[in-house]
Amino acid sequence: MDPALKYAMLLILLGWVIWDVFPVSSLVNASPAKHDFGHCERTVKKWASSSLDLEVKEDKHTLQDLLFFLHVPRTGGRTYFHCFLKRLYPSSLECPRSYDKLRFDPSKPNCRLLVTHDDYSMMSKLPREKTSVVTILRNPLDRVFSAYEFSVEVAARFLVHPNLTSAKQMALRIRSKTKGVSTLDIWPWKYLVPWMRDDLFARRDARKDKGPNYVKGNDSYNMEEIVMPLHEYINDPIARDIIHNGATFQVAGLTNNSYLAEVHEVRHCVQKYQTLGAFVLEVAKKRLDNMLYVGITEDHKESATMFGNMVGAQVISQLMASSSSMEGAANNLSEQSTSFPDSKSDNSHHQDPNNSTGQEAGEIDSTIPSTENVETTKENITVGELMKSYEVCISSLRKTQSYRRTNSLKAISPANFSKETRLQVPQMVLQQIISLNSLDVELYKYAQSIFAKQHKHFMRKLDTTDMQESIFDIAYDNPLWKVVSLAISLVCLLLLIFLIVNAKRRTSKLKI
Ligand SMILES: *[C@@H]1O[C@H](CO)[C@@H](O)[C@H](O)[C@H]1NC(C)=O
Ligand SMILES: *[C@@H]1O[C@H](CO)[C@@H](O)[C@H](O)[C@H]1NC(C)=O
Ligand SMILES: *[C@@H]1O[C@H](CO)[C@@H](O)[C@H](O)[C@H]1NC(C)=O
Ligand SMILES: *[C@@H]1O[C@H](CO)[C@@H](O)[C@H](O)[C@H]1NC(C)=O
Ligand SMILES: *[C@@H]1O[C@H](CO)[C@@H](O)[C@H](O)[C@H]1NC(C)=O
Ligand SMILES: *[C@@H]1O[C@H](CO)[C@@H](O)[C@H](O)[C@H]1NC(C)=O
Ligand SMILES: *[C@@H]1O[C@H](CO)[C@@H](O)[C@H](O)[C@H]1NC(C)=O
Ligand SMILES: *[C@@H]1O[C@H](CO)[C@@H](O)[C@H](O)[C@H]1NC(C)=O
Repeated sequence: MDPALKYAMLLILLGWVIWDVFPVSSLVNASPAKHDFGHCERTVKKWASSSLDLEVKEDKHTLQDLLFFLHVPRTGGRTYFHCFLKRLYPSSLECPRSYDKLRFDPSKPNCRLLVTHDDYSMMSKLPREKTSVVTILRNPLDRVFSAYEFSVEVAARFLVHPNLTSAKQMALRIRSKTKGVSTLDIWPWKYLVPWMRDDLFARRDARKDKGPNYVKGNDSYNMEEIVMPLHEYINDPIARDIIHNGATFQVAGLTNNSYLAEVHEVRHCVQKYQTLGAFVLEVAKKRLDNMLYVGITEDHKESATMFGNMVGAQVISQLMASSSSMEGAANNLSEQSTSFPDSKSDNSHHQDPNNSTGQEAGEIDSTIPSTENVETTKENITVGELMKSYEVCISSLRKTQSYRRTNSLKAISPANFSKETRLQVPQMVLQQIISLNSLDVELYKYAQSIFAKQHKHFMRKLDTTDMQESIFDIAYDNPLWKVVSLAISLVCLLLLIFLIVNAKRRTSKLKI
């Protein structure tokens, strides 16, 4: 054969082999192969097993040095933060930027309290062994309703502006003044609120062109002339990205706000292939198992009582122990707390909840009466006092919240959200929410069973420690009781001697 031809044939053969081993598609664009089921399954399984490996907890019932409150949005966690944790921890012990304030800042390594909407991937930045995690879960149907209503409520505050441009400008101005502390900076609201706000303005503009009396129907959750209907909201890609199964993803550390770059692929895979959700659920359940406390929004009274007694009591004794071991330092800390920049900026923007210009910044925090942030921790507070102050705090919080909500929703009248108007929502929409949140439905059931166990454990402990403690307290703390008990023992002894002597006398009498 002609050597040139031989050479050419060899080249063709070689090309063919290369072609076969490395198909053009994979050389040009790696993504189609990357997201096929096999690859996804391997990715998710690998993530799940390495996550589960990390979940070994020796003593989950004991509060560690750092308390991490994993706050799932719209579960009522805010009342725990303001009415329990803020009362217990001086702000000097709060991790900086912990709540609503962008991302965790590790510049304060010895902080004790971290409350955030960020997901469990935050643990990668924390000392795992020295951290106790707590969370609260809510019925997914109610959580989705609440997320929708809150998106509308916050967005509707912008409607005081004549147009979207001026609304955005005002938001920017307020934002630069408050150094970025606003709902618009907090995940997930930083996506949900602007989306809803822009939509509200678009609908209002369309209404202007068509004239008044154009609204038809009486279902507040489906008034497309005024506000994005619920069924549209839940089917939007944004809601699919951050609302549905949000609790499971947050506990698993797989939200689109995660710290770990590698988990985004896991999330995309799970969203694409629903069967892979089982692995995520397994990780989330295991995490709940290892938490110090799991509350249930619906069982509010029991959850709060248990939080006060299980978490609050341990925080109190922990802080008391550490403050007595470094007496002066504690004083220094509490002095600093009043001038702590975070709490200062908090307060200055929450002065007047009635001022609508102040409200439109969309600050969630402005629901908090400013006096509550100022109140510093009483070192000696007892659990009983804590619970009492919680009652007062929560009722004032609720009043302000409902006032602001009613005020804000006026802007979208006649649409209005309430228990009654919810009854208008068709079964089909409810069913769809439930099926879009199937992982959360399972996780919620699991959380309920943990809660029931926790509750039983707590009641048993309460029974025994109550008795022990009361005896212990009285016997060792009260000198008067010492005298009294000594006297009683003496009397008993005397009585015994008297009886014995008497009996002896009687027997001796009988003998005679
Ligand atoms: C928006 O409102 C502001 C303030 O009233 C006005 O100055 C501006 O011209 C408006 N912009 C548009 C695009 O209508
Ligand atoms: C809303 O309209 C439906 C029928 O269109 C009616 O049955 C229902 O009573 C109305 N509800 C309210 C609150 O007006
Ligand atoms: C998170 O979701 C929002 C809303 O869909 C989206 O705009 C944003 O880009 C997402 N972020 C990431 C990291 O995927
Ligand atoms: C309190 O802080 C000041 C400076 O901030 C320091 O000089 C002083 O030693 C501290 N006192 C105690 C008891 O730590
Ligand atoms: C806000 O308005 C409510 C209801 O009118 C009122 O009770 C409250 O005192 C007002 N608060 C302030 C700070 O003006
Ligand atoms: C509301 O707040 C804004 C900005 O903080 C201020 O300029 C305005 O005077 C306040 N209005 C009322 C009625 O207090
Ligand atoms: C806290 O308790 C200690 C001892 O029980 C007591 O001496 C101290 O005055 C108390 N402090 C406050 C602020 O109640
Ligand atoms: C909306 O409903 C709430 C509670 O049912 C009620 O207090 C409020 O007045 C209603 N708002 C409007 C504008 O109808």
